[in-house]
Order: sequence, then C-alpha cells, then structure tokens
Amino acid sequence: MRRSTDRGGADPLHAGTRVLALLGDPVDHSLSPVMQNAAFAEADVDGVYVALRCDGGDLSGLLRGLARAGGGGNVTLPHKQRAVSLVDEPTSAVRRTGACNTFWLEDGRIHGDNTDVEGFRRALNVLIDGISGARVLLLGAGGAARAAVAVFRDDGAGEVHILNRTVSRARELASRLGDGQVQVLQEPDALLAGTYDLVVNATRLGLDPEDPLPVDLEKLDRVGALYDMVYRPEETRLVHQARERGIVAMDGGEMLLQQGAAAFERWWRRPAPTEAMREALQGRAPEGAGARRLDGASGPQGTGG
Ligand SMILES: NC(=O)c1ccc[n+]([C@@H]2O[C@H](COP(=O)([O-])OP(=O)(O)OC[C@H]3O[C@@H](n4cnc5c(N)ncnc54)[C@H](OP(=O)(O)O)[C@@H]3O)[C@@H](O)[C@H]2O)c1
Repeated sequence: MRRSTDRGGADPLHAGTRVLALLGDPVDHSLSPVMQNAAFAEADVDGVYVALRCDGGDLSGLLRGLARAGGGGNVTLPHKQRAVSLVDEPTSAVRRTGACNTFWLEDGRIHGDNTDVEGFRRALNVLIDGISGARVLLLGAGGAARAAVAVFRDDGAGEVHILNRTVSRARELASRLGDGQVQVLQEPDALLAGTYDLVVNATRLGLDPEDPLPVDLEKLDRVGALYDMVYRPEETRLVHQARERGIVAMDGGEMLLQQGAAAFERWWRRPAPTEAMREALQGRAPEGAGARRLDGASGPQGTGG
C-alpha cells in the first residue's frame, strides 16, 4: 500500500511508530497531514499523521482507541464539541470554549485541548503588539469566535462587541465567556461610525469568494488592525478591503499554522519546528489541491483543521 504522506528523511514506519490522526468530515482537503508530517520529519520524532473521515458514531471509538494505543491527534468539524465529553482530562481552554481539537495520552489518561485558542493568540501576536485595553469588534459567534473571546478575556482586551447573524448565539457566547466587557450588537447599523483597535472575522463568510463581506469597513470610522480567520488560496476580500484602506491585516493561515504547532507541542512535549511547518504549508498541498502560500498566493482553502 502506498502511503499518502511523506516522512522525509525519517526512519521507516515500524511497530513502535505513534499514529496521530485528524478525525472529522470532510478531511480530504486538510493541510494538517502535510504540515504535521513535515514537522515530525524535521523534529525527528517517531510518528505518522493521517486524516480519517469519520461520522459521529465512530468518533468515540477512534479517538479513545488511538489515544489508548499511545497515539493521539486532532478533531475538526463537525466533531469538536462532541470530543469534549470523550476526553478524561480537558484543559481549561476546552472547558471554557466547549470545544476540543487536540487529544493525546498522558499518565494513562486521555487529555484534550483546544489549540485554536493558543493558535489565535499566537497569530494575533504576529499581527499586533498585544491587545491589552483594545476595543474589539468580533464578527461571528461559532466555535472559532469562542476561542477568540477566550483570548480577549485572558489577554486583557477592553470592550468587545460581538455581531452575529443569529443574535441569540452571540448572547450565549457573551454569557458563557464574557465578563461584562462583552456586548452584543443587535444589528449591523449599530456599527455605524464605530472605532475599533481590532476587527476579527470568525464567520464563515469569505470561504467562498462570492460571499458578501462580513462587515463593510467603509462604515467604520477607524480600524487599527484586522484578523480574518478565513484563509484561502488568494487574499480574502476582507483582507483586501482592509489593506486598501491602509489597515494592517492578516488571514487565517497563521492561525492554522500556530494551532498545529501548539498541538505538536502537546503530543511531543517539545517546541514545534514552525519554520518547517510553514514551508510545508506554503510549498505542498494534498493531491489535487495545488500549493498554498501563507501570504495568500495559490492553493486550497481550509477550515481550520
Ligand atoms: N485559521 C484557522 O486555523 C481557523 C480555525 C477555526 C476556524 N476557522 C475559520 O473560522 C470560521 C468559523 O469557523 P467555526 O468553527 O466557528 O464555524 P461555526 O461554529 O459553524 O460558526 C460559523 C459562524 O459563521 C456565521 N455564518 C455562517 N454563514 C453565515 C452567513 N451566510 N452570513 C453571516 N454569518 C454566517 C455563523 O453565524 P450564525 O450563528 O448566525 O449561524 C457563525 O457565527 C470558518 O471560516 C473557519 O474556516 C479558521
């Protein structure tokens, strides 16, 4: 059987090789196998990373079985919430966000983390110099938005405004993770002439190039910086609009890299070789998907797993 992954100069697979897997549906265009196998080869660790499409019924057996066998992996859509109840030791990031995207065995117990939180934090730190006291506009109220609010609270952001198509979902998020500093905007008009140090897009808008913009930056008075969690082969429309207005902006590629680096560190207990991972993401992609550059030149889109 031909393996679809390349372990570079690493030793051949053998009986002791750790198997790590991405569990989700769909997984066929995920960039995680390319990124993680490059990291394993660079760090010379004895593991292999594969993507396994699975439905909700198979998730428990696969996740627990892989971990109990000494492996681990990631969980992506639509199973991140279901995975929370399957791990024995959830981190506080998992408990707060209600989502688990990384699992592994430690001291005989199955641990789970949500590295989207750390990935978003690290990506933001590449974009701007900290968010202490920042006035933030968050677009969206799904799983990725929860990770963002956890970072805003932990890192001392000032007022956070959430705008979401479904207002009740934004309210749920504010009451789950907010602390009085998080306010829900009822409608887009509430944004008129708003001033924000940071705008974050955590909606799905932008995954399809035909999507409308999640916010029209023209309507805002001033925006200091913009982070679009969506990543695509080319610059997203939102990042494009921001840069045209002179706003420093970045797409979701850096968050993808950094959540993967944080997962590597949980599995292997050592710093991730981020440059090798970045190069793998930029230079290679799953079969049929084309290459992608993190600065947005060509290749497949991703959904954060
Ligand atoms: N870069 C990364 O590493 C990374 C990691 C995680 C996620 N992401 C990206 O973040 C985005 C959100 O992911 P998620 O996991 O939070 O998904 P999710 O839980 O399904 O949430 C989707 C969000 O998008 C909104 N939305 C969907 N369709 C919309 C539309 N037509 N008009 C307006 N709003 C719409 C939803 O609003 P409602 O509540 O009204 O449905 C919700 O706020 C995705 O683009 C994903 O690719 C990136």
